[in-house]
Amino acid sequence: TMTVEDIEKTVLAIKRRLGNRLYIPGHHYQREEVIRFSDVTGDSLQLAQLSAQNREADYIVFCGVHFMAETADILTEEGQTVILPDMRAGCSMADMADIDQTERAWTKLQELFGDSILPLTYVNSTAAIKAFVGKNGGATVTSSNAQEMVSWALEQKERILFLPDQHLGRNTAFDIGIPLEEMAVWDPHKEELIHEGERKDLKVLLWKGHCSVHENFTTANIEALRKEQPAMNIIVHPECRREVVAMSDYAGSTSYIIDMIEKAQAGSSWAIGTEMNLVKRLIANNPDKQIISLNPNMCPCLTMNRIDLPHLLWALESIEADQIINPIKVEKKIAADAILALNRMLERA
Ligand code: 13P
Ligand code: SF4
Repeated sequence: TMTVEDIEKTVLAIKRRLGNRLYIPGHHYQREEVIRFSDVTGDSLQLAQLSAQNREADYIVFCGVHFMAETADILTEEGQTVILPDMRAGCSMADMADIDQTERAWTKLQELFGDSILPLTYVNSTAAIKAFVGKNGGATVTSSNAQEMVSWALEQKERILFLPDQHLGRNTAFDIGIPLEEMAVWDPHKEELIHEGERKDLKVLLWKGHCSVHENFTTANIEALRKEQPAMNIIVHPECRREVVAMSDYAGSTSYIIDMIEKAQAGSSWAIGTEMNLVKRLIANNPDKQIISLNPNMCPCLTMNRIDLPHLLWALESIEADQIINPIKVEKKIAADAILALNRMLERA
C-alpha cells in the first residue's frame, strides 16, 4: 500500500504531466489534504464562475459535492469532462427537493396564487430543479448574491418560491426588508403551506429544506458564549436558522467569512458558525487571532469529507489510464433549461 507521501508525490506528478489539461477547483469546505492540491479555491459562486470561464481544461476534477460538479458540467463545453472523485459526495440539503415534489408543489401553488410566483433555487439543488426553475423564468442564487437575486425576483413577480433552503431564503428576505409574516413554508411531505395569517399578503414561499450541518448551531450556543466570552465576535453562514443569524454579529457566505477573519485585527476573537474544515483552516492560517467553532461539538460536512486524498488520486489516475471514473454528465435537455437559471444569476452576480 502507498504511504501518504507516495500518494502526494503521485498526485503532484500527474498534475505536472497533465498541466493545463487538468483543472482542480476546491470548495472551502474540503479537507486540507485535498485543498492543498486544488488549483483554485472558492465559494459556490466563485467556483461556478471559474468553471464557466475555463475553456482549456479537458478534465475538471471537482473537489466539492455533486450539485457543484453538475453545475460545472452545465457551464463547461462539450469536450470538457467533469469528474467527482467520490459519487457519495452528495448534499443532504439538495436531496430535500426532488423534481416530482417540486412539480406537484408548483401545481398547488399556482392554484392558490395564479401566475404571480417566480421560482428561485439555491445552487445547492439538483440539475433537474435548476432546469425547472430555468424553464419557469427564475434563477439560481448563492449565499453571496442571494439579496440581489431575491430583490430582482420580487421586481419580476409579486412573490417567490425559494428552494430548497428555508433558512437562506428567510434570512435573505428578512435582510431586504420583508417581514416574517409575509413568509410561509411549503412542506413537501404534507404538501401544504404552513402559515398563520392571510394568504394574499404572502411574498416569500420557503421550501422546507435545511442544511443538517448548519442547523447544529443553536441560540443556546450563542447564549453560552455571550455569557462566558462577551468580547467574542460571532460570525455565521446564512444556512443557519433565523434566530441564530439574528443573534450573531455577522452572517455571510464562506468567502465573506474568510475575508472578515483575514482582515480582522490581530488579537480579536471569533466564534464561527460554519463547516469544520473551513473553521480549522481559518484557525491554522490566523494564529494572531483567537478562533473557535460556535458549537464545540461540531462535525464536518460528511459528504464534503468523502473527497479525500485517496479518492483524488483515484480520479487522477483514471484520467491517465483513459478509464475515467465518475464523470458527471447532465442530460442535454436538463442542462439546456438549467443554464437559463444559472445565466440569469451569472449576468447579475
Ligand atoms: P458558499 O460557499 O456559497 O457559502 O456555500 C456553502 C455551502 O454550504 C456549500 O455547500
Ligand atoms: Fe450540503 Fe450543508 Fe454539506 Fe453544504 S454543508 S454540502 S449545504 S450538507
